[in-house]
Amino acid sequence: MATNRTFTMIKPDAVEAGNIGGILNMITEAGFKIVSLKLTQLTTADAQAFYAVHNARPFFGELVEFMTRGPIVAAILEKDNAVEAFRTLIGATNPADAAEGTIRKKYAKSIGENAVHGSDSDENAAIEGAFHFAGREQF
Ligand code: CMP
Repeated sequence: MATNRTFTMIKPDAVEAGNIGGILNMITEAGFKIVSLKLTQLTTADAQAFYAVHNARPFFGELVEFMTRGPIVAAILEKDNAVEAFRTLIGATNPADAAEGTIRKKYAKSIGENAVHGSDSDENAAIEGAFHFAGREQF
């Protein structure tokens, strides 16, 4: 059964470009409640652990380097059917394929530097949220 929470990161490219406010505005305008929120920076070990599922992919090294090069915003979001609703809001992984009106269409530069992360399942949303936030930081 779908749960009502998902996890997101505003990635270093979007933070560097000054797009935190614009992206959070699209998220709240779409009806998501912010449950947890922080500006933080991943260490290499953090990024390797977070993206462990991709460690055999050819882009893994590039992904870890990108995700550690500057601050990110981590957030837990709440809405009915949150995982699917948020993936619709962010659009396709490759911004060239992202639909009009999506966050990646507006803010992403490339398939690697694609502005935002969205959990791909309820199970991963719970794991990824717990990776970044203690229980007392989840409202
Ligand atoms: P996301 O779906 O949030 O999590 C996995 C990330 O790997 C993805 O965003 C992209 O940032 C990155 N990624 C996926 N495919 C490629 C690719 N072909 N080349 C470089 N990076 C990629």
